[in-house]
Amino acid sequence: MKTISTCIFDLDGVIVDTAKYHYLAWKRLAYELGFEFLEEHNERLKGVSRMTSLDIMLEVGGLTFSQSEKEVMAARKNEWYLEYIYKMTPEEILPGVVDFLVMLRSKGIKISLGSASKNAMLILERVQLQHYFDAVIDGNKALKAKPDPQVFLLAAEELGQNPTSCVVFEDAAAGIEAAKAAGMKCIGIGSPNVLGKADKVVPGFVNATIDLIKF
Ligand code: BG6
Ligand code: MG
Repeated sequence: MKTISTCIFDLDGVIVDTAKYHYLAWKRLAYELGFEFLEEHNERLKGVSRMTSLDIMLEVGGLTFSQSEKEVMAARKNEWYLEYIYKMTPEEILPGVVDFLVMLRSKGIKISLGSASKNAMLILERVQLQHYFDAVIDGNKALKAKPDPQVFLLAAEELGQNPTSCVVFEDAAAGIEAAKAAGMKCIGIGSPNVLGKADKVVPGFVNATIDLIKF
C-alpha cells in the first residue's frame, strides 16, 4: 500500500464554493460588454487562471481586446469578486472539510494548498482555515497555470516531500491533469463524469476517513 505523507488541496470548489462568486463577477463584466454569460459557460473557467478565464469569457462573447485593455477588465472583475470574498465567513467552508483537516493533522500528515487563485490567502483568512496549512502555494507563487504541474510540485518541494507520496484533491479536470503530470495521486471532488481521470472520485468530504487516502 502507498504511504501518503502530504495532502494538497485545491481551494475553489474543494474547500469553499467560490465558483459562484467568480461567475457573478464575470457575468457583470459580460453584461457591461453587451453579452450574456451563462452558468454553463462558467464550467470552462474552473481551475484556470484569471487571464485565461477572461480569454474564455471573451471568446464566448466573440470579442477581442488588446493586452492592456484585458488587464484593466481583469482587475475590475477582481474588484467585484473581492466584494463577495470580503463578506465570506467560516460557514461557507464545504461540509466535512474541517473534520477531515483535523483528522489529517492528528495523523501527522502534512497539508498544503495548491490553488491557481491570487486571492487564496485572503479566502483562507476569511474562512479562518489558514492555520491548518503547512504550505500555501497560490497564483502568486505558481506562475504556470494548471494543467501545468508547477503549483503541486512547488507544494511538495516547500514541504520537502517526494511527489509520489502526495495526494491532490481537485474539482477541475485541468487540476487532475496537473496532479497526474506531477506524478501524484489525485482524488476528484465532484462528479465522475468530469473527473474520470482521477484515481478516486468522491462527492465531498462528509464522513471521509483516512481510508480515502489509502491506495
Ligand atoms: C481557480 C478558479 O481556483 O482560480 C478559477 O477555479 C479562477 O475559476 C482562478 O479563475 C484564479 O482566481 P483569482 O482569484 O486569482 O482570480
Ligand atoms: Mg477548483
